[in-house]
Amino acid sequence: MLQLPNGVRHGPDYLNRPRQEALVEIIRAIVAEAPLYVPVMPGNGKPMSVRMTNCGSLGWVTDKERGYRYQPTHPATGRPWPEIPGELLEIWNDVSGYDKPPEACLVNFYSDDARMGLHQDRDEKDLTAPVVSISLGNTCLFRVGGLTRTDKTSSLRLSSGDVVILGGEGRLCFHGVDRIYPATSTLLKNGGRINLTLRRVTP
Ligand code: SIN
Ligand code: MN
Repeated sequence: MLQLPNGVRHGPDYLNRPRQEALVEIIRAIVAEAPLYVPVMPGNGKPMSVRMTNCGSLGWVTDKERGYRYQPTHPATGRPWPEIPGELLEIWNDVSGYDKPPEACLVNFYSDDARMGLHQDRDEKDLTAPVVSISLGNTCLFRVGGLTRTDKTSSLRLSSGDVVILGGEGRLCFHGVDRIYPATSTLLKNGGRINLTLRRVTP
């Protein structure tokens, strides 16, 4: 059996198909208001392969000059992010075990050739709240390790409707997405994968 680090939980098939479909429609509406953009790495300005947007009072953004941070407005439109929909707040309430609501929901869109390098989520001031992550669309190979980059890692497949929670001792575990498996889900007509991460940013 796969041994995940303490505090890291995987809930396979957490969302049934109708709930996944409803979320896709909700994400479409969010993207219509807050378009996906290409984030770039701080310093070298290299574009990431994942496209992003957010909902919530704060959104996670990155650019060449100012780096990783949270801000209340979309970097391209300058408008406030759309609100976090009730369907996502409900999931947070069900699985986070945290009494305050999330402030940020990062929407990551992976085309079938996108990936995300190993990293920690550490731009939040409140590290006592978990990160709640929801997968939609094609299956991915997710890798999770320990608190230092060189710790041993475990790999698991995340399918559409799965949730992952990084909380407690596992809150700062390194994690990343090594690959997307094309044509493994019929949820998204044009393939790819959507990942939603709900986070509390301020204490
Ligand atoms: C992330 O770490 O922001 C995304 C993780 C995922 O796509 O599953
Ligand atoms: Mn992350």
